Formats: sequence, C-alpha cells, structure tokens
Amino acid sequence: MNDKILVGVLISAKRMKRLREDILDRSLKLILEANRTVGTRLFFFALENVDFKTKMIQGWSILEDAWVRCSFPYPQAIYLRSTYSRGNRQLLSAFFRQLERQQTVFINYPLRMDKWEMYKCLASHPGLEQFVPLTWPIRSPEEIKELLESNPVLYLKACLSGRGKKVMRVADLNTGEYYFTRYAEGLKTGKMHWGALLQEIEAFFNQSKIIAQKEIDLLKVAGCNVDFRAELYRSDGNLPKIIGIPVRIGQPGSPITTHSVSMSLENFCAQYSLVDYDTFTKKAEEFLTETYIALESCFGESGELGIDFGLDTEGQLWFIEGNSHSAKVSLYNSYADDILLQSYQGLLAYAQYRVSVYSSIKN
Ligand SMILES: Nc1ncnc2c1ncn2[C@@H]1O[C@H](COP(=O)(O)OP(=O)(O)O)[C@@H](O)[C@H]1O
Ligand SMILES: [Mg+2]
Repeated sequence: MNDKILVGVLISAKRMKRLREDILDRSLKLILEANRTVGTRLFFFALENVDFKTKMIQGWSILEDAWVRCSFPYPQAIYLRSTYSRGNRQLLSAFFRQLERQQTVFINYPLRMDKWEMYKCLASHPGLEQFVPLTWPIRSPEEIKELLESNPVLYLKACLSGRGKKVMRVADLNTGEYYFTRYAEGLKTGKMHWGALLQEIEAFFNQSKIIAQKEIDLLKVAGCNVDFRAELYRSDGNLPKIIGIPVRIGQPGSPITTHSVSMSLENFCAQYSLVDYDTFTKKAEEFLTETYIALESCFGESGELGIDFGLDTEGQLWFIEGNSHSAKVSLYNSYADDILLQSYQGLLAYAQYRVSVYSSIKN
C-alpha cells in the first residue's frame, strides 16, 4: 500500500524565488509531472525555509494546479537539487545531520564524491581496475615533477570540484620546459620552466587536495577531445538504468569537454561514423552498471549518478569520474522530455521503495 510518502526537493534560494513567481525550469516541471503518476506528497523548499528548532519546513507544493505554501515536517525522503556554496555549507551539513538522525532517505548523496576515494574504490574492485587510469594522490606539488619523468602528460585535478574548473593538463616537453593547459572562461596555456609551473599549479589549486592522473588518449573529432556523461538512476532494488549517454565534444585545444557541444549518443553515431552504436552501447551499459554498483558499495546507495567516461583511440573504455550532484546539462541539451520524465518517475518510485524498506526494518 502506498501511504503517499513525503518527499522534499531542496532547491537554491534563486530557484525558489523563481518558483514563487511561477517560473519553473524544465527539471522542476518534469519532477512535478512525474509525480502525477507516482503520487508522493512532494514539496519544494530552500535552505532558508528550514526551522532547525521546530524541525518544520515552509515549503511549496501544488494543490489543484496552484502553488500553496504549507508547513511540512522533515520529509521521509529528500532529493537535492541545490548546489553547495561556501556560504551555506555549514548550515547544510547541520540540516543533513538532523535528517540522518530521523532516518530520512537521501535520494542522492548528501556529499560530493572525492575523486581520490572514487579511484581507490574502483581500482580495488575486481573486474573494474582495467577501466581506471593510473592515479596518484598529491601530497605536495613538488611530487608532480618526479611523476612527469615517467608519465610525460598528466591531468591534475582537485578531488572535490566540478565543471572542469579545477582541471589542468601538464606536459613535460623534455627540453627542460613544461606546457600547461586549462579552461576557465577561455583556454589558458603556458610554456615554462619547472619553478614557474609550480607557482602556476599552486596558485590555480590554492591548497585544494589534488590528484594526478595519466592522460587518456581520448577519441577526437576534428582534433577536439570527445567524452561521455552517462546519467543513470534507480527505480527500485534492481539494477540501475541508463537515462542517456550524451556525448561531449571539447573546444579546440581544450583539455576538458565541459562548456562544449553535446549531443545524444544516437546522433553522435549517426553524424560521425567513429563508433558503432549497438556495440558501444552494449559495452558501455555493462561498464556503467558495474561501476554504479561498485561506487554504491563504497559510498552508499544512491538513486542517481552521473558517470563521466571516455573511449580511447584503441577502443578501450575509461572511467573519468562519478557525479553525485549532476546538473545534467548535457542530458537536457540532448534528450527529449519523455525520456527524462521516465527517469524522474523511476526516481520517485525509488524514494517510495527505500522508505518502505526502512519502515519494514523499523517495524
Ligand atoms: N585522465 C584524463 N585524460 C584525459 N582527459 C581527462 C582526464 N581526466 C579528465 N579529463 C577531461 O577533463 C574533463 C573534466 O574532468 P573531470 O574529472 O570530469 O573533472 P570535473 O569534476 O571538473 O568535471 C573530463 O570530462 C575529460 O574531458
Ligand atoms: Mg566531470
């Protein structure tokens, strides 16, 4: 029996303001529409609507096609669609702790996944180690010089970052000079000696925890790097499902494919005859499902995950990273509403499933 579980969707203050003006973006519209068939008690709120003392939330929900503001208790399941910022991090973690204490189901992870932790997780997972590029934790940027001697091209990446903002490619030119590229508001490059590169690295990463990773020789279109961002979700206790595999083509010379052109895998295969759709999909599906389950075994169950992966010029698949809070930009750019709607229906059904499993354990 479905007793209409209470599901809260946490959104940013900016989106909350727009919602109150009845301006809804595509994802919120789709969640609402999905809920018409799934039938949870769904409400939206921002962090400032939470009263930590009374543990009540002033949220907004749809009642007979109109928005109404109501007071809700802390929900049985929460879906996070808000981004972390330095300003709200502490408050958010206090809120999450309260939710954990009352056993709220987190539909997606409360925290971002650390790139070094993901590497360790998959590299030690039988059958998946072949898909992870060799990676090193960097305790001091000085260590990078030595690594470059045996690996002339490395990707340096902050463990907790996204959208390619803290990614730098460095190459040892074997002439005593090094070449770096990064992409943030345009392509930045430089050719310099070690001392200057070290300063560049230190200034760019600003004491964030970083990893160094062997370069994947990614497939290219007109010299631009190509990679994939698969979005997966769960609808129950069975295997996760793939919503879509958008393909991203980077800017010329850019080490990242973020802020680029994206299209569905179907269109990519039709437009560039580089990849056979059926063979690739079958191989990717297996790899993605196994990776999803392995990541869950390290980080806990999740209703959705975005997985970045690449295909090298020899046809081998490579894991790049998992995203627990994917904004699904490429997916929205590349796939139609009916496909996205199905995934939100699945996600809300997953919330019901997890809540019912919890309550049967409690009783
Ligand atoms: N080892 C690598 N080899 C080649 N390209 C990489 C590698 N690691 C990352 N990239 C490129 O950089 C992009 C951003 O890296 P990623 O690890 O996904 O960090 P972010 O969290 O910033 O998205 C990837 O989508 C991919 O195009
Ligand atoms: Mg990424």
